[in-house]
Parts: sequence; C-alpha cells; structure tokens
Amino acid sequence: MWQEHCVHICHHLENRKDGIITMRTRSIHKAALTDAVTPLEEAGKEIAYQAAVEGIVLLENDGCLPLKPGKIALYGAGVKMTIKGGTGSGEVNERHAVSILEGMEDAGFKITTMNWIDDYDQSFQEGERAYAEEFRKKLSPKNLSDFMNLMSSPYRYPYGRAVLQEDVEKSETDTCIYVISRQAGEGADRKLSENEYGLAEIERVNLTFCAEQYEHMIVVINVGGQFDLNFLHEIPSINAVIFMGQLGTMGGQAVADIVCGKHTPSGKLTDTWAKHYRDYPASDDYSYLNGNLDEEYYREGIYVGYRYFDTFHVAPRYPFGYGLSYTEFEMHLAGMRLERTTVEISVDVKNKGEVYSGKEVVQIYVSCPDGELKKEAQRLTSFAKTKNLKPGEEERIVLQFDLRDLTSYREKDTATVLEPGEYVVRIGNSSRNTRVCGILKLETEMITEKHSHICKAPLRVTELEWQEEKELLHATGDCRQNWGRTCEIIIDDVEKIQSFQIEPGIIPEVDHEYGPVEIYSSEETDRILESLTLRDMAELVVGGGMSGHRFFEAPGAAGVTTGNLTAKGIPNVVMADGPAGLRLHKISSVSITGKVKGIEPNISFMKYLPEPVKKVMLGNPDSKNLLYQFTTAFPVGISLASSWNLQLAEEVGNAVGKEMEAYGVTYWLAPGMNIHRNPLCGRNFEYFSEDPLLTGEFAAAITKGVQKNRGCYVTLKHYCCNNQEDNRNKTNANVNERALREIYLKGFEIAVKESHPGAVMSSYNKVNGKYVNNSYRLLTQVLRNEWGFDGFVMTDWFATGRKYGDPAHAIASGNDLIMPGSSGTVDDIVKAVSKGIILEEDVKRSAANVLKGIISSRIYQGYLRKQRESGV
Ligand code: BGC
Repeated sequence: MWQEHCVHICHHLENRKDGIITMRTRSIHKAALTDAVTPLEEAGKEIAYQAAVEGIVLLENDGCLPLKPGKIALYGAGVKMTIKGGTGSGEVNERHAVSILEGMEDAGFKITTMNWIDDYDQSFQEGERAYAEEFRKKLSPKNLSDFMNLMSSPYRYPYGRAVLQEDVEKSETDTCIYVISRQAGEGADRKLSENEYGLAEIERVNLTFCAEQYEHMIVVINVGGQFDLNFLHEIPSINAVIFMGQLGTMGGQAVADIVCGKHTPSGKLTDTWAKHYRDYPASDDYSYLNGNLDEEYYREGIYVGYRYFDTFHVAPRYPFGYGLSYTEFEMHLAGMRLERTTVEISVDVKNKGEVYSGKEVVQIYVSCPDGELKKEAQRLTSFAKTKNLKPGEEERIVLQFDLRDLTSYREKDTATVLEPGEYVVRIGNSSRNTRVCGILKLETEMITEKHSHICKAPLRVTELEWQEEKELLHATGDCRQNWGRTCEIIIDDVEKIQSFQIEPGIIPEVDHEYGPVEIYSSEETDRILESLTLRDMAELVVGGGMSGHRFFEAPGAAGVTTGNLTAKGIPNVVMADGPAGLRLHKISSVSITGKVKGIEPNISFMKYLPEPVKKVMLGNPDSKNLLYQFTTAFPVGISLASSWNLQLAEEVGNAVGKEMEAYGVTYWLAPGMNIHRNPLCGRNFEYFSEDPLLTGEFAAAITKGVQKNRGCYVTLKHYCCNNQEDNRNKTNANVNERALREIYLKGFEIAVKESHPGAVMSSYNKVNGKYVNNSYRLLTQVLRNEWGFDGFVMTDWFATGRKYGDPAHAIASGNDLIMPGSSGTVDDIVKAVSKGIILEEDVKRSAANVLKGIISSRIYQGYLRKQRESGV
C-alpha cells in the first residue's frame, strides 16, 4: 500500500503542468500532498488527549476544584503560550497545540483577563526579538562548528507584567488560575540562579496579590519536572495546585477538562518533590554547581529519589507516587501468595466517593533486609492502575513481581544476590502511604547471577552512608503522613500478616558468559555481505545526517543509514526523533532540482538564525510542490509516565508506530529513559522517573506499542548515565558498579528483556573514564552477553571524533553505527582495520547488525519491488 502511495506522489509531481519533474528528485517520500487533516492525525490527537488527562497530577486541593464553567481570571506565562514540551531534538512539529486559554474557552469558561494576556503576548514578542538579536551576535564560526550545542540557551519565556487592581476588577470573578511555565532542553541543565527551578520575583508578587484578591486561587505548574513550591508556605491562601507537566498537542484541553471536572485527576508523581533543592542528595555537587563539569561523582550511590528520602528520613514535600483525586478510594488487601519465584498480591480498590468517578494506582514496595549490603528503605516492585471506577464501584487488581526484583549487586564478587532476612512487602498509593501486607523470609543467601566487572578497575566513589535504623518503615509497617488524603489502605488483621518462606535455591544461578557475539547470519544478510568490500561494510556502519544521496527520506528526520550502497541493493532507512512524537518537517517544498527542504525549522533554535542562513536552509513556502507530514505531539516522558498507565503508554507507542509507517520512518529515536538523578537535569522532561522499574516498564510498553507495527522500531536512549546536559559531550560519570547496575542500567535491562527493542543509542558521556560508545563492557558484555540484546547500537549525534570516542573503537566495542558520520569516518574505520587496530570481523559484525535492521524495514521491501519493476 505504502509503495503505491510513494509512486503516487512521484507520479503526481512528475506530471505537474508547471514542469517540475521529480525524475530529478533524489529520493522518495511518503509525505501527503495536501494539508487535509487525516484520520491518522485525528486518532493521534485522541490518544494524546487521553495521555494528557491521565498525566496531570493534582498536588493540592482544598475542595475548590473542580470548578463550574463561568467567568475566570487567567494569568501567567503559560496561559496562551502553554509549553507543550522541551526544546532540542525532542521537539515535535504538530499542526497545532491547544493552549490553556483555548482549552478553558472550549470548556465553557469566559476569560476575563484578556488585557493582561494581550500585554503578555506583546512582551513575549519583544523578548523574542531581543533574544534573536543576541543569538545572532553570539554566532561565530567557532561555535557554528559546534552546531548541536547552539540549542543550549533557548529563548526563555518572560514572566509577564504585574497584575493590577484594575485587572482584578475587570475580571469580575472570584476565581483565578495562575500558570507558571518553564522550558528546558538539551545541551544545558536548569539553572538554580535563573528562576528555572523557582519563582521569579514578579511571579511571587503576582501570586501573593492574586491570592489576596481572589477567593479561589489555583496554580498550574507547566514545567517538565520538579519545581520549588516553597511559595505555598508564604502564600497559604492558594487553594489548589496542579502539576500539569508538558502535555503535547492536547495539553490545554486536558487541563481545562480536569479543572471543570469532566475528568478526575489520576496522575501520580514519578519523582520525589523535595521541600528544598538542598534536600536532594549530593545536590551541591550536581553539574555546574560545584564548578566541575568534567567529573561528576555519583556519591549518593543507590540512594536516588525516594530511595534516599525514605532511607535517610528526609520528609519530602510530595513523595514519589503521590497524587490526589476528586474522589476517595479504599484499598483492601484481598490476598497474597508466593508461587515459586512469583509473588502475587490481590487488592480490591473501591471508589468510596459519591460524586466523581476516578482511577487509582496500586503501588507495591518492598523493604529488603540489610546484610553485608545496606539497602534502600524500600523499592517499587510493581504497580497497576484501575479502570475508571464509578462512585461505589470496586475492582480487583492483581499485581505480580519476581523474587529477582529484590536482588542487589555485590561488587566484591560481582554477584547479584538475595541476602537472607525478612523482605517486608507493602501496598499503597505513594511511597509514603503504604501498609505492610506480607513478609517474605529467606534463610540463606541466594546468588542469582554471576557477572564480570563493568569497570576495569572498580571505582570507589565515597558514597553516602546512613546510620540510623530504618525504624519508620520496619517497626510500624506504616509510613503515613497526610499524603494519603484520598486513599485509605485496609489490612484486615494486622496481627496476622502472612509470612512466606522462600525456598532455598529456587532461583537457578546464571553464570554469564562473555565474548564476541556471533556475526548475525541469515540467507539474505549473508548474500549481501558477501558482495561487499571492506569499504562498503565501513559505509554501512556510518550513517548520514540531513544531506547526501538516499533512496528514501522523510523530510526533517534526524538521520539515515547510508545511501551510498543503493547500487549494491541496500537502501537507506530513516531515523527520526523522539521522544514526544515524531520530529519531522510538517511542511516541505520540493525545488526545481528535486531538493526537499522544510519551510519552517523543525527545531526551534533555528528560527533565530540570520535570515540569509535560513534562506539557504529552508524551502520556499510559495512553492507549488509542497509535502505535508503532520505528526502528533504527545505528553513528554515525565508526563506520560505520570499516568502510571502502561496500557496507555503502549497505545501512544502504537500511535507513533502508525505515523512512522505513514511517513516511512524505520527507527524512532525514543524512548528517552535516563534516570532523574537530579531535578536540574535539562532533559528530565524527556525521561520518565527517578525509579528504574517505572522507567523500564514505560520504555517496554512504548516499545511494544511501536514495534507492533511491522518494520517500525524504537531506539532506547541514552545508554547510559547521560544525567547531565552541561558539557554533555565530555562529562565523566563516576559511578560505583552497584549503583550503575541497580539504578542506571536497570531500566534499560528491563526494557531490553521485556520488549526486544530494535536499537539502542549510546550516550555522549563517559562512564568511569571511558566514552560509552567505546565501552566494550557496556555495549557488548552487559547489553548483549548479559541481556541478550540483538538489535544494533548507534551513537548519539556527532558523539565520535577527535575530541570524543574513537569511531573505529566504537565499532570494535559493539557500537554498530556512527551517527552521523562522513566519508572521513569511513576512511578512519578502513584505516584502523588495515593497521590492525580493529578487526575486519568487527566491522562485519556491525555491518551485519545494521543490515539486519535495514532488511527488516518496509523500505527494503519497497526497494526490492522497485528494483524488480525497473528490471534491475
Ligand atoms: C540528542 C539525541 C537525538 C539526536 C538526533 C542529539 O543531540 O541527544 O537524543 O536523538 O540528537 O536528533
């Protein structure tokens, strides 16, 4: 079908009366020829809407929400300029993103503060003009060569003017919503000193004033991560706080529909929100804060997020897993069993309210016993969301986890181990609203896996140590404060909490074997590989960027596999960002020479380039030959995961897969799945959580959704420890192996094992002194030998080169594809083989992996058909 579409496009263009002949077009596209809204676009919007609704987290509500539609005062940067996602490669160019202003109007509210909003508009535009001027001044040949990092200081939205008495009077209402917006993006971390993490003075003044003037005051946090909410103490009369996050194309609609009660909030935080930034572990050391951007020491070890707060008894503002509802729930333990290595827990969840339907999330945490290894107070081992329960309705939720989920990694003998003692299992709806529901007992230690070291000389980062007993959790079994407002957890007979004996040796020990992976072989790849020279194979392991010859392209995609081997029967395939949807050009023009160019930048910083540069880079909007690719902007990673709804994540993946199929993208450069180690990481919005299980499960669900579509694959990124954006190309993450395995690799491990992703992207940074793309241990021993990954690994963009990881070593280490490279990179690889630095076999192994990826694409099938048709 798609091929017909392609042919149709070419045919159509070829026959245009104005004489523009696409016989000269360099490649084929599947983009549409009209800008009509397609059923695919409608379907994407619908799923984006559902995901947006479920990703909203209600943090505070004294009963003022939901609101009845009527007159409403709206203030704040995000009212009209609602931020749908972060900047950089993760931007998506949808047709239109609904603002809060539009959403509220649509929900029947009358906005009575248009004066303030119009003034904001003006200051936004003025600010943008000034920014563009500054940006152009900063451009020099020096930083042009570092083009990718030009995006590290995006335009920051102004905060708006002071709210005046006159605005309040004109608004003729007692209800106000104030939207605080911040945007972060790749290449830079959020700066504490620039109000990126906290209020600007004018916002503080405005919030205080509005809280005095309006009886009902709701604050919406339109930020892709944690934000300093200390102002809640200074301004106690704020009645409700919504963590909107960044919700993609339907964000404004979703917020409005939550505000008016069309839907009940059901999102839960995927991170701990501290009272103060300094409460986060190793907070002063993070990124730029200690003045050292080259070396980052992960001193907190495994104590990341709630693992730190709950172990060290630091009270958070909001705990991990927290989120309020308009209704109230009751969770009732219905039963627990241990079946060999599977623990199964049944929980009856009831909507106790009388008015609102709603969904609740059941979360299971386990406290593992201290032994030789000290443990975090508790870890999430399973979770599930209910259906939409009507008032009075009940649902039984059955959750499972495996005993292997309770293991820890012991560096001294490189063993994954279950230490003896009592494993206390608890159910709840946040990490701080739980009750013990059972105990698992183990008499003797069980080693479940034996590994090899990841780091040559295991590093000793001095980690935090806690001294106190974990009484809070162990003794009482409860850790409830007022965070459990909308959910009561009932265990009938606390005295009779059931204990289960874990059978000794029930988990067979896996002794990992390490060594070079066999070269992938199939009839087709073998046949093709046989016909390739060393140079051809080197071409195959070096991808292309935006230019160069290619068989197929989706305009605006971030990269392609080589287009230089079409004569040898190997078409290129396309890779596009990720992760909040597909980043493509929404409109492109085809020039008289057949060149396709986007008519608008597909990444926002390019808007600010000088006009002559843009003229060369961009296409002609008045061209008669326009191509259209409207894709859907979904909620960013953190907001999607705030839904705690894996089925929904799979549907989002499936919707992206359908768009990939429609536009001919084979590899989606997503999901992004680095751990939220610190709230200031500039790309946290793209990632899911501080917790590896939640991260791994979301990545797996999305992968399943995308890869349901034949010939469409994901690229898990950025493997691994890309937890800092400042100096991201050079920074060295010094992290102990235990933390590396239990926290930073765990999510990738879950996703690889559960969902069989087509590709993985290695990260820019070094880990323990070695560039990840040059790390045989991470890329071959861990990823393939231990986890069985059988797709291909690509570098992050421009991550190899003189100053960075060596491209030839990358290939020998198991990084199959250099993205994007040049003919110089191909030369380097060929030379490295001829000098005996790497083996020809290394290149062949990577070439076979890339080839396998190409052959399994739809493009390949279309290519073969085209060859047949033209009699080649
Ligand atoms: C980002 C990747 C992205 C790539 C291609 C890089 O700057 O780190 O996440 O996929 O660009 O756009």
